[in-house]
Amino acid sequence: MPLQLGDPVPDFNATTTQGPIRFHEWMGDGWAVLFSHPKDFTPVCTTELGEVSRLKPEFDRRNVKVAGLSVDPLDSHARWAEDIRETQGHALNFPLIADPDRTISSLYGMIHPNADNTLTVRSVFVVGPDRKLKLTLTYPASTGRNFDEILRVIDSLQLTAKHSVATPVNWKQGQDVIIASSLSDDDARTKFPEGWSAPKPYLRIVPQPGSKR
Ligand code: BEZ
Repeated sequence: MPLQLGDPVPDFNATTTQGPIRFHEWMGDGWAVLFSHPKDFTPVCTTELGEVSRLKPEFDRRNVKVAGLSVDPLDSHARWAEDIRETQGHALNFPLIADPDRTISSLYGMIHPNADNTLTVRSVFVVGPDRKLKLTLTYPASTGRNFDEILRVIDSLQLTAKHSVATPVNWKQGQDVIIASSLSDDDARTKFPEGWSAPKPYLRIVPQPGSKR
C-alpha cells in the first residue's frame, strides 16, 4: 500500500553525505522534504541537486529540512557532489542519502517497477512536524521537478495549518485566500472580523492572514 496523505511516515536510519541520520530525530521540530532521484552522474538529476542547493536558504526560512536519496553508494554521491558544484554553481549543502540496498526506497515506494526495476523515480514527500505526509509527487526520470512549486505548496501548507483557510488556484504568498468550508459564517465572522467578499456563499475570499498588504 503506497503512502497516502495523512499517513505517519516511516522512520529510518540513513547514511548520508553529512553523516548518519535518524529521519524523525533529524527533522527536529520542523518540516521535511525527502526526495529521490534516479541516479548519480546523470544530467537532469545534476540540475535538480544544484537547484535545491541554491534554494536551501528558502527551505531554511520556512523551517524545512531537505534530504535527497538514490540507490547509489556514498562514495558515488561524494564524487558527484564535485560535478554539481562545478557545473551548477552551487555546492551540495544538504544530506544526500545513500540507499544501495533499497531499504528506504522500498519503505517509501520510490521504486516503480514498470518505470524502472532498480532505480528510484523522482518522488517527493513533504512531511509535517507531526511526522505525517502532507504532499507527495511522482515524476518520471525524464522530467526535472519544479522546486519553486514545492516551496509554493509548503507556503500553502504552513498557512492552512495555522489559519482556517485554503489557497486558490496558482496562489502565491501574499495573495487572497479562501475561508475553509468547514468554518460556519458565524465562526468566520469571529476569525475574520473585517469580513470577506463572497461571489457565491461557498466562495468566501479574504486577504491572506498575516500578510503585510
Ligand atoms: C537524468 O537525470 O537525466 C536521468 C536519470 C535517469 C534516467 C534518465 C535521465
